[in-house]
Amino acid sequence: MKYPKIAPSLLAADFARLAVEIDKVSAGGADFLHLDVMDGHFVPNISFGLPVIESVRKVTKMELDTHLMLTDPVPFISAFKKAGSDSLTIHAELSDPSAVIAAIRSHGLKCGLAVNPDTPVVALFPHLEQLDLALIMSVEPGFGGQAFQPHTLNKVRELAAEIARRGLDLPIQIDGGVNVDNAAKCRSAGAQLLVAGSAVFRSPDPARAIAVLRG
Ligand code: DX5
Ligand code: ZN
Repeated sequence: MKYPKIAPSLLAADFARLAVEIDKVSAGGADFLHLDVMDGHFVPNISFGLPVIESVRKVTKMELDTHLMLTDPVPFISAFKKAGSDSLTIHAELSDPSAVIAAIRSHGLKCGLAVNPDTPVVALFPHLEQLDLALIMSVEPGFGGQAFQPHTLNKVRELAAEIARRGLDLPIQIDGGVNVDNAAKCRSAGAQLLVAGSAVFRSPDPARAIAVLRG
């Protein structure tokens, strides 16, 4: 696969005009669509869920990169698959991430694992061989539009070194506060999948924003 890839986060879109918003970023060169699902428990916010994903699936062929900020994702895996998600990313802060990763893979979906800004990157290490992407959160999950936390770039570097040491083909995703001013730093630290909500959907020129994020 050719990197970097850009995944606009739908959380920053105008929810009353989703099809138009999705067309805008798709025509602008987005590679994936990042869908932030929140349960009001794992994070102190609620976003959108299955019916929205089902509708989004009908209006785009883009890969649906689904970021699950849920305390208990397992009972919903088959429903996300049915709704049209291509990959499910869960959090290393859950009580038993291995079991959730295995359940996601057993459904034939791609699986990602995320760490919050204050979770040590080594929390990802026992799972790397089972993953399709590893996500370093660069803000506390729960809300779009927050400021990028620069210290998380050290975690990207550390993870990139570990992936190289093991000879794995595992892309690193970064999510939260990514914009046209810090994207180059993200890429040079080793992030290959850049998620950006506000920087794309709130830009007067999303195609240009996507191009600059890509570098
Ligand atoms: C935060 C989400 C992010 C966020 C990105 O919980 O995981 O995907 O919406 O939005 P921006 O780019 O605005 O920080
Ligand atoms: Zn996200």
